[in-house]
Amino acid sequence: MALFKKKEVNSIEDIILPEHVGIIMDGNGRWAKKRGLPRSAGHSAGANNFRKIIRYCSDIGIKYLTMYAFSTENWRRPEDEVSALMKLFKQYLEEALRDFKDDSIKLRFIGDTTAFREDIQELMKEAVEGSKDRDGMVLNLAMNYGGRDEIVRAAKVISERVLKGEISPEEINEQMISDSIYTAGQPDPDLIIRPSGEYRTSNFLLWQSAYSEYVIMDKLWPDFSKDDMNFALLEYAKRNRRFGGV
Ligand code: IPE
Ligand code: IPE
Ligand code: MG
Repeated sequence: MALFKKKEVNSIEDIILPEHVGIIMDGNGRWAKKRGLPRSAGHSAGANNFRKIIRYCSDIGIKYLTMYAFSTENWRRPEDEVSALMKLFKQYLEEALRDFKDDSIKLRFIGDTTAFREDIQELMKEAVEGSKDRDGMVLNLAMNYGGRDEIVRAAKVISERVLKGEISPEEINEQMISDSIYTAGQPDPDLIIRPSGEYRTSNFLLWQSAYSEYVIMDKLWPDFSKDDMNFALLEYAKRNRRFGGV
């Protein structure tokens, strides 16, 4: 299926946008290092860019946006870096709650949120609860998220159903797994963008990305601009998605 409405396109107005976009927000540390700054300064700059890009995606009409903010493996980082990240999450959540009344974004979290500090978990719950009836873009923030962890959890949920006798092992199918993961009910990501030039998934949306289009870009996340977003969307529109067919 060609995604172009016209043959020659230079603008995102001319293309069919992906319904669900995922972004691996990578490169904060290198951005800071290049400037002789501590890694935490890179994370601050990355958080500001996150604010800008989510707003932009909502404005242009993306329906689902999943932002990879903290992986199940990121706890391995030095304690001061982890606590700088926690401080930034808290700041963002407080700000989101403060500006809540004029917003249309529906905030959700994917990942094991029980690992976070109580005060952060409280803010997360408030933000989800307070935005659940909105009809704007769904923003999934992946925090303490790991694709493998997500699949293990789904396996546990489904095993319980088997144990209770609700289903037999033969009845387990792909839809059941899709319905037991964090993104249940949402379309799979059409496009996954990874800034900072790494060619790997780093445990992001493993199940959901079976047929996602990847766009890898060299820009580091704090420098990733609206123009870069447009570039990725135009690149996506040129792809010929076959889903295993011809
Ligand atoms: C991504 O930037 C942010 C998080 C993982 C929280 P990095 O901190 O991984 O930046 P690099 O990859 O070291 O440059
Ligand atoms: C992926 O980046 C995780 C996030 C962006 C939240 P990492 O920097 O943790 O991934 P690796 O270590 O380069 O694979
Ligand atoms: Mg990184």
